[in-house]
Amino acid sequence: MSADNSKPTKNVSRRDFLGISWAALVGILGAETAGVLFRYIQPINTGGFGGIVNAGKVDDFKRGSITPNQAGRFFLVRLEDGSFLALWQKCTHLGCSVPWVEAENQFHCPCHGSLFNQVGEVQGGPAPRPLDFFPVTIENGEVFVDTGNPTTRTKFDPGQTTKA
Ligand code: FES
Repeated sequence: MSADNSKPTKNVSRRDFLGISWAALVGILGAETAGVLFRYIQPINTGGFGGIVNAGKVDDFKRGSITPNQAGRFFLVRLEDGSFLALWQKCTHLGCSVPWVEAENQFHCPCHGSLFNQVGEVQGGPAPRPLDFFPVTIENGEVFVDTGNPTTRTKFDPGQTTKA
């Protein structure tokens, strides 16, 4: 006569097996979905809008110039004192893209006619505040614009610029 000293085994019922399988499947799908969403909401750091954009070399921008950057959706303004200001091209009225109109020497929104001067201050139209700006940093003679961090303002202040 032999005694069975082995640990008791627990049989998994068909219902339990299906429940565990279902939970595992939901977990895997949830992880996949989270991964896709995480990649989607991450800032694009490949030089496009939403990440840090290398706008070019400091010396590429003349004093008193306004240069559009399509990939970053901003205008890089180089003021007469040599400092930089990056203006988001998005109108502060209802969000249209605002072009710089050289013949008018101002930004002129095509949607409802808001006007902004070289530093983005409202000169006319329904826009409630100046164009938003992005932080600018200069490293090794190159200009970088952080398009993931727009800043709103009520007026232009030289503290919003970055010295070269
Ligand atoms: S969206 Fe620019 S003026 Fe309305």
